[in-house]
Amino acid sequence: MKGIILAGGHGTRLYPITMAISKQLMPIYDKPMIYYPLSVLLQAGIREVLIITTPRDQEAFQGLLGNGSDYGCSFQYVAQEAPRGLAEAFILGESFINGEKVCMILGDNIFYGDSVEKMARQSTDPDGGIIFAYQVADPDRYGVVEFAEDGQVLSIEEKPQKPRSNYAIPGIYFYDHEAVEIAKSLQPSPRGEIEITDISREYLRRGKLQVKVLDRGVAWLDTGTFDSMMRASTFVEAIEQRQGIKIGCIEEVAWRKGYIDDAGLRRLAERTLKSGYGEYLLGLLERGA
Ligand code: G1P
Repeated sequence: MKGIILAGGHGTRLYPITMAISKQLMPIYDKPMIYYPLSVLLQAGIREVLIITTPRDQEAFQGLLGNGSDYGCSFQYVAQEAPRGLAEAFILGESFINGEKVCMILGDNIFYGDSVEKMARQSTDPDGGIIFAYQVADPDRYGVVEFAEDGQVLSIEEKPQKPRSNYAIPGIYFYDHEAVEIAKSLQPSPRGEIEITDISREYLRRGKLQVKVLDRGVAWLDTGTFDSMMRASTFVEAIEQRQGIKIGCIEEVAWRKGYIDDAGLRRLAERTLKSGYGEYLLGLLERGA
C-alpha cells in the first residue's frame, strides 16, 4: 500500500504563525507536526510515501525528511499549486499511486493510543474504502457519520450545521485504486473544494465503505487553532515526561519495524544529540527496546 500525507494549505487559521512557514512544520512539543501522521503510516507498514506541500514549502519538507532513505523508506514530493480540496491529493498522486491501494493522512492529524498501530495495520487492504469515526464534542467542525442502531452507515456529511451524530471522521482514509477516478469525477463543494467526504460518500453509495469506530482509548488530536495546537503539545509533553517514551517518533518506529538497523538509528541519533532527542534514541539502543 502507498501512503500520502497532505501537508498543503496556507494555514490561515494560524496566522501570523504560518504566514512564512507551513503549519505542518510547526512544533507539537518536541517534533514537527508532520512526524505524527508520518509515524502512523510507518506503523501501518507503509514505506512509500508521497508528501504534498505548497510550492513554497516543498524545499523545507525535503530538508527535514529527505528522500526517506535515512528511515529505510522512500519519500517523494509533489506541490499543490492551490488548495483545491483534500480529494485533489489522489489526482496529484495518480502516477505515484500507480493503480495500488492508498492511505491518505492529513499532515495535521495526531493519533495516539495502544490500538492505533493495529487499527492502521488492519486497514491496509480495503475492498473499497475504510474510514474511521471518533466521538467528539464539536462534530460540526468535521465530516460527520451517522449510524443506524445495527451499526450500518446511514449518512456522511461535511461540516453539517446540524450534525446527525457526534461521530467525526478523522483525517485518515484507506482507499483502493478507484479513489483516483472518483476524485476526478467530483464537483467542487460550496466552499470551492473537492471534498474527501464526497469520495467516502461515493464508496458508501457503491456499498463499499467500511467505517470503523475508534475506541475511546485512542486520542485523536486537533491542531487547527492556537488553543488546540497548544493542547496537543501539552498532551504529548505530559505522556512523554511521565513515561519516558516518545509519541510520533519516526526514527524509533523505523527502527522497531526493522526498516533501519542499529547503525541507522545511531546515525539519526547523532544529529539530534544536543536537544536531548538523540539521547532518547541512543537509550533505545542501550536498552535494546
Ligand atoms: C477535513 C475534512 C473533514 C475531516 C477533517 C479531519 O476538514 O474535510 O471531513 O473530518 O479534515 O481533520 P478540513 O481540515 O478541510 O477543515
